[in-house]
Amino acid sequence: MKTLPHVELTQQVLGRLTGTTDSRYREIMTTLISHLHAFIRETNLTENEWQQGIEFLTATGRQCDDKRQEFILLSDILGVSMLVDALSHPRGEGTTESTVLGPFFRDGAPRWPHGADIASGVPGIPLVFSGRVIDDLGRPIGDAAVEVWGADGEGWYDVQLADSARMRARGGFTTDAKGEFWFRSVKPVSYPVPSDGPVGKILRKMGRHPFRPAHIHFNVSATGYRPLVTHVFVRGDRYLDSDAVFGVKDSLITDFIHHDSGIAPDGTPIPTAYTSAQFDFVLDGA
Ligand code: BEZ
Ligand code: FE
Repeated sequence: MKTLPHVELTQQVLGRLTGTTDSRYREIMTTLISHLHAFIRETNLTENEWQQGIEFLTATGRQCDDKRQEFILLSDILGVSMLVDALSHPRGEGTTESTVLGPFFRDGAPRWPHGADIASGVPGIPLVFSGRVIDDLGRPIGDAAVEVWGADGEGWYDVQLADSARMRARGGFTTDAKGEFWFRSVKPVSYPVPSDGPVGKILRKMGRHPFRPAHIHFNVSATGYRPLVTHVFVRGDRYLDSDAVFGVKDSLITDFIHHDSGIAPDGTPIPTAYTSAQFDFVLDGA
C-alpha cells in the first residue's frame, strides 16, 4: 500500500533528528513532532485555525516580561504544571504533597522571628498560623527553613500592588528544636489568576472561571530532606473543586477557625477577632 504524502512528511521530519548526539533531546523531539503531527491530523486543522494558534502563541510571548510569565500561566491552566510536578515529585508514603510554585514567589524576602506579623499592613482578617515540620515518623525537624507567601485579604500579592517594591505578606522562618514555627498574617481569600491577557481569553472561550481557592504558599527545606513546595488551602472555599490551575490536593486543605478573642501560641492574649490555622509539613528523607 502506498504511504500517504502527509505521513511521509512526518517520517521525513523525524528522520532529520539523526544529527543530534543528545539522546534525551532526540527522544523528546521525536515524541513532540509525532504528537504534534498526530494532533493536526486528528483535528484536521485548517489553515485559519493554524493561523489563530500562531497568533495566540505570539500574543502569549508578547505578554511576558520580567514580572509576568504568560507561558507558565498557560501551562498552569492546562494542567501541564501540575502534571510535571506529579511526575517530578512522587509522594513519599505519609509525606506532605506538593503543588505549583506559582508566579508570586520572590527571592530575598525578610527573615522573621516566630510570632512576627508578616502582613506588614496589608488588609485582611488577622490570622495566626502555626506549623510544624516533621519527618514521616513524626519526629521534629529543627532548623528547617520555611518560606511563606500569600495574597492579602483582597486577593492581591505584594507584587501586584502600586508599591510593588515593598515585600508584604511574605518571609522566612526557621523552625525551633520542636520543629515549630508560627506567624501572624491575614486570612487568604480566593483570587483570579491574571486574566487580562491571552490566557484569560482562552479561559473565557473554554467557559472557565480564573479563580484559585484561598491558600498560603510554603517552601520548606531542611538538610537531608527533599525540598517541599506546597500550599495550605482554606477548607470550605467555593473554588476548591475548580481551581483554575488544578493545584488542590485534599490533604492540603485545613480548617481556618474563627475566634472572637484568644491566646497566641506564645501565651499573648488576642483581644479581637481573628482566624487560626495549623498544619504539619511532613518532609521526605532525601
Ligand atoms: C498562585 O497561586 O499564586 C498562582 C499559581 C499559578 C498561577 C497563578 C497564580
Ligand atoms: Fe497563590
